Amino acid sequence: WERPDGRPVRQRLLVVANRLPVSAVRRGEDSWSLEISGGGLVTALLGVKEFEARWIGWAGVNVPDEVGQRALTRALAEKRCIPVFLDEEIVHQYYNGYCNNILWPLFHYLGLPQEDRLATTRSFQSQFTAYKKANQMFADVVNKYYEEGDVVWCHDYHLMFLPKCLKEYNSKMKVGWFLHTPFPSSEIHRTLPSRSELLRAVLAADLVGFHTYDYARHFVSACTRILGLEGTPEGVEDQGRLTRVAAFPIGIDSERFIRALELPQVQEHIKELKERFAGRKVMLGVDRLDMIKGIPQKILAFEKFLEENSYWRDKVVLLQIAVPTRTDVPEYQKLTSQVHEIVGRINGRFGSLTAVPIHHLDRSLDFHALCALYAVTDIALVTSLRDGMNLVSYEFVACQDSKKGVLILSEFAGAAQSLGAGAILVNPWNITEVAAAIDQALNMPAEEREKRHWHNFEHVTTHTAQQWAEFFVSELNDTVIEAQQRIRK
Ligand code: ADP
Ligand code: G6P
Repeated sequence: WERPDGRPVRQRLLVVANRLPVSAVRRGEDSWSLEISGGGLVTALLGVKEFEARWIGWAGVNVPDEVGQRALTRALAEKRCIPVFLDEEIVHQYYNGYCNNILWPLFHYLGLPQEDRLATTRSFQSQFTAYKKANQMFADVVNKYYEEGDVVWCHDYHLMFLPKCLKEYNSKMKVGWFLHTPFPSSEIHRTLPSRSELLRAVLAADLVGFHTYDYARHFVSACTRILGLEGTPEGVEDQGRLTRVAAFPIGIDSERFIRALELPQVQEHIKELKERFAGRKVMLGVDRLDMIKGIPQKILAFEKFLEENSYWRDKVVLLQIAVPTRTDVPEYQKLTSQVHEIVGRINGRFGSLTAVPIHHLDRSLDFHALCALYAVTDIALVTSLRDGMNLVSYEFVACQDSKKGVLILSEFAGAAQSLGAGAILVNPWNITEVAAAIDQALNMPAEEREKRHWHNFEHVTTHTAQQWAEFFVSELNDTVIEAQQRIRK
C-alpha cells in the first residue's frame, strides 16, 4: 500500500465482487494455478489501473482444508486479491440458487423460476438466508482489511446486502455499490419476496450506481413505491439521510484492444482467419452461454435469413463462440442442449460436404484470438434479451478500425443507449426483424458503414473503464463530504 519512493499515495480502493478476476484450479495439496475469470465485470475492472486497489471475492472453488486455503491466499496475494472462502452448501444456495436462479433472471425480466413453483417458493427462504450469510462473510473479510480513508466499492447483484453489513461495522466507511445488470421496472422488482429487505440493504450505501439512467430511475421508483420513501433528483431520502443514486455507464480499456491488433501473433491469427473464410462474409457472436444473451433467437434469425436469401447461403458464415457459464444451474444446462440442437438442425439443412453455415464453439477464446476474430468480422450480432451494458459490442467496435463492420445490437442491451446511433438496433424477440437487419448490414454501402463505425469508435475510445471508475470514486468521495457537511449544519 505504501509508496516508499515518495510518489503521491493513490486512492486506496477495496473492490468487492463475488467473482475475483482470477479463478483458482487446484494442482496439488498446496499448489494452485490461476486463470482469468470471464464476464463483463472482470473485463471492465481489469481496465481500471489508477488506484491502489485490492480485490476481495470468491475464487470460484471450494477449499475445505486449511493447507489449501493458506496456499491459495498466498497465490492470490501476488495478484492483489483476497479470497472469501465459501463452502459447497453456501455456493449451492447463495450463488447457484438465490443469485443465479432468482435475482439474475428477475433483473433481466425473465421472471422468477417458472417450473415447480411450490418447490421454488419453499427453497426461496433458505436461499435468501444463505445469501445474507454469504454477504456477511464478504463483510467480515472487508472489515479485516479496511483502513480509515479506504473507499469500499461493492459490485453487483450478489452483494446487495453488503452495504448494510459494512455500515453496521462502521458507519463512517465510504461505501459505494454498483449494479452490472439492469435494474428492472419496480413492477418486476415487487414480485420478489425479499424486495424490501434488499432495497433497504442497498440504501445503506452512500452512492448507488447503474449503467443507465433508466436503471437508476427504476431503482428510485422501487424505493418510493415499495418502501414509501422520497425520491429526489439526487437519489433516495430516508429520514433526512440521502443515498445518492446515479448513472455511471461502464466502458472498456479500448487501448488494450487497439494495441493488441498490432501484435505479430494477432496479425498471424488474422491472416489465418482471412484465408479460412475467404469469399465469405463473417458474422460473429461472442457470449457467455446465458439465456439473457438470446443465442437461440439469434441462430433462428440467421436461419430465417438463409431461408429467405438463397444467394447468400454459401457466402456467409456465423461464428458463435459461447463460453459455458454457471453450469450447475439447471436452466443453463437446458440452454446448452437447446442451442446444440438448433445449430445441428440448421447445419444439416443448409450445410454441404465442405462447409457449414454455423460454427458453434462452446469455449472461451484467449485475448489475442478474440481480438483477431473481432478484426475479421463483417457483422457482429449482439441479440441480448436484456443486458446491463454488453461489453462485447464495445470490444468489437474497438477492433474494427480497418474493416468498419456493422454492429447489430439489441435495443434491450444498455449499450443501445451509447452505440445506438451507429448500430442497427433490433428487437431480438422478432426474428424477422433480425433477419432483415442481417440483410441490411450485408448490403450497407461502405460510406454508411464508415460513418456508423466512427460514431461508435469515438464513444468507445472516449468512455473507458478507467474514466468510469474515476468518476464513480470521485462522486463517492464528494457524496460523503457533502453528507458530513449536512450533518455539521
Ligand atoms: P457479461 O458480463 O454478461 O458476460 P459482457 O458482454 O458485458 O457480458 O462481457 C463479456 C466479457 O466476457 C467480454 O469481455 C468478452 O470478451 C468476454 N467473453 C464472453 N464470451 C467469451 C468467449 N467465448 N471467449 C472469450 N471471452 C469471452
Ligand atoms: C455478469 C455479472 C458478473 C459475473 C459475470 C460472469 O457479468 O454481472 O457479476 O461475474 O456475469 O458470471 P459468473 O457467474 O461466472 O461470475
